[in-house]
Amino acid sequence: MEEETIWQRFLQPIFSLLIDENKLKSLSNGINWKQECDLLKDENLVYPDYYQSQNFHGIAGGYLTSSAAVTYDEITQYVLAPNETWIRQELINSVQGQPQKILDLGCGTGSSTILLKQAFPNAEVIGLDLSPFMLAIAKHKANRAGLKIKWLHGLAEKTNLLAERFDLVTASLLFHETPASISKAIIKEAYRLLTPGGQAIILDGNQESLRQTPWLTNVFEEPYIQEYAQGNLDGWLGVAGFEVIRTNPVWWMNQLSWGIKPILVERKNFQTISSLQDLEFVNLN
Ligand SMILES: C[S@@+](CC[C@H](N)C(=O)[O-])C[C@H]1O[C@@H](n2cnc3c(N)ncnc32)[C@H](O)[C@@H]1O
Repeated sequence: MEEETIWQRFLQPIFSLLIDENKLKSLSNGINWKQECDLLKDENLVYPDYYQSQNFHGIAGGYLTSSAAVTYDEITQYVLAPNETWIRQELINSVQGQPQKILDLGCGTGSSTILLKQAFPNAEVIGLDLSPFMLAIAKHKANRAGLKIKWLHGLAEKTNLLAERFDLVTASLLFHETPASISKAIIKEAYRLLTPGGQAIILDGNQESLRQTPWLTNVFEEPYIQEYAQGNLDGWLGVAGFEVIRTNPVWWMNQLSWGIKPILVERKNFQTISSLQDLEFVNLN
């Protein structure tokens, strides 16, 4: 028999006390999972090994289960101390100007995506994630709030979206969930997707604090968080070509990184679009 993880032994019982089981049941029953996932799923998408080979937060099957999707918001509200809304609001407050085309990478259940749409109601907002289950919850939440957001099933490091299409690309709580090499590839992809002068904003765990608390990362079963903690977001943004880079702490355990794609960029192999109205995808293979 497999040994129980620290999460299963200690945290699951605590979270079971905190979580409102009836609320979860009614959320889960309110969604036709097969129908929603079939609608959202890109059948050609191949899940990378780093994603489907791991349990995240002690949930077998990682994010590719309805139970991961249904419990995510309930658990996250306790994990993002001192207050989830205050922390997410920092991302919104750091946006400069009025972006018109926003892409939220690794959007999960859409909590930050929805805040972005509420803050910039005239913008076209897209949330992209690898889990159709997480996207189904995101869609459900946005519909309930009466918000028009497009949900895409895809890989943040290879979106197959047209280059230079967005003026804001965000990622919240994504990078501690991916190997460092993938986080760097996602930043590179964000750079490709941004118009010159566009901004990238990354909200995640505070790398410096996480380096000092390795025990915490074992408890929460985050397979890649130590790689993330050893890295440096400012450096990763710099290597990708971003400028005016800064990372500031957000409360005790989070940080917000910001970078801008320079106006004068050397165009290498970017496939650009002639009109910002062009919503077609392009296969960059
Ligand atoms: C911790 S959740 C964060 C969700 C959301 N952004 C938030 O702030 O609550 C991480 C999300 O990233 C997604 N994810 C992980 N690797 C990904 C990748 N390579 N491309 C797209 N999504 C990814 C997972 O499916 C999951 O929904």
